[in-house]
Amino acid sequence: MAEETAYKAHVMVLPFYGQGHLNPMLQFSKRLASKGLKVTVTTIHSVTKTMPSGAGSIAFESVYDDSTDGGFHGPGGFKGYLERFEASVTLCLTELIKKLQNSEYPVKCLVYDGNLPWALNIAKQLGIAGATFFTQSCAAIAGYYPMHLDSLGEPMPVVASSMLAVPELKIPVVPTFESDTGRYPPIIRHILQQFSNIEKADWVLFNSFDKLEEDVMKWMSDLWPVRAIGPTVPSIYLDKRVDNDSDYGFHLFKPQNEGCLKWLNTKDTRSVVYVSYGSVASLNAEQMAEMAEALKQSNSNFLWVVRATEESKLPSGFVEETSERGLIVTWCPQLEVLAHHAVGCFITHCGWNSTVEAVSFGVPVVAMPQFLDQTTNAHFLEQVWGVGVVAKVDEKGIATKEEIERCIGKVMKGKRGREIKKAAMQWKELA
Ligand code: UDX
Repeated sequence: MAEETAYKAHVMVLPFYGQGHLNPMLQFSKRLASKGLKVTVTTIHSVTKTMPSGAGSIAFESVYDDSTDGGFHGPGGFKGYLERFEASVTLCLTELIKKLQNSEYPVKCLVYDGNLPWALNIAKQLGIAGATFFTQSCAAIAGYYPMHLDSLGEPMPVVASSMLAVPELKIPVVPTFESDTGRYPPIIRHILQQFSNIEKADWVLFNSFDKLEEDVMKWMSDLWPVRAIGPTVPSIYLDKRVDNDSDYGFHLFKPQNEGCLKWLNTKDTRSVVYVSYGSVASLNAEQMAEMAEALKQSNSNFLWVVRATEESKLPSGFVEETSERGLIVTWCPQLEVLAHHAVGCFITHCGWNSTVEAVSFGVPVVAMPQFLDQTTNAHFLEQVWGVGVVAKVDEKGIATKEEIERCIGKVMKGKRGREIKKAAMQWKELA
């Protein structure tokens, strides 16, 4: 029988539901476990039921049963879901931690998603440490901060017309959406509540690394006890194997693993353009058509993730016409794809995870941000880290086929392409 492991301490982790939240928090949990900590991840039933029970180094506990009340789609929509989620988690997590307090490994710390600030109350009431985990960049959070001060009626520390949230760091204001429901739209209010008790957290964690956001980290350290604990990308993919199992993966959609990787194996080094818009953003039919045409005209190999709900927007005949050079899948194992030698360019919506992953794997990007933090991430990719270009959009918000093709060329060819590649490799080393 295997020897009992002696753990250094027990950490409880509470991610918010969503691909961009689960990935970094599960990867971080795995990293903690590899350092000899006992880790229990608490999340919703539909996630925990897919995780191998008792296997691997992290345990899973369900703290909200979405199978009985419809989750996001249940009564009251997203707002109703959040209320039920908070009530259920507060009850279940408190009970769970209390139960463990007399065990061999009492819980010492709760790491909770920044989107769930109320979870800090659970930690405080039970007398354990509480660390908030932000799944967006330090710069994006710095970009929202003036809005938080504004919503409290405190003066914004910047002149809005400068379009800079933190002028000395040149951080652009994070865009909001039009709203007739108050000063800020609901999505922004949801994001801003992350600041509601941040000064009471024992740690403020970011999936970033010191060199990547050095200046903004320094700036933020005066406000809160921040720590960059990223990139959370598992080191097995960065050729420094410390994990020996890969049971932490969770995919909202079924990845077409083998098909993608076998196909990439047949392609030359850095010859493939990889296109993905993550788990939320979608393109309208016009933008889809421009993208399809650009990929066709560019003469590059391409791997394009078009989620099942988006497939109907693909121009008819496109798949057949480009089948020699292109592969379209509904979801892929993105870490393995970005780690593959054949990938030479990543056309991305610039979600924070995709951004950190591109930087960590040294893959040059064409940035096509859609909303919120994605525009800030795109700005950093091009202007600060020099690892890509941002595709310009016309007055309708569309990046034309000519523009996309121009960007692919810039990133993959010529002098600019070589400079971008060099910068990408330097960032990969630092990651
Ligand atoms: C959302 C928001 O869109 C983004 O602005 C915010 O920064 C985080 O939350 P999402 O759209 O899911 O994020 O994008 P991203 O943060 O890039 O996360 C997507 C994750 O899914 C990545 O870790 C990526 O590796 C993974 N992925 C994506 C796959 O495994 N396969 C795919 O085919 C596509």
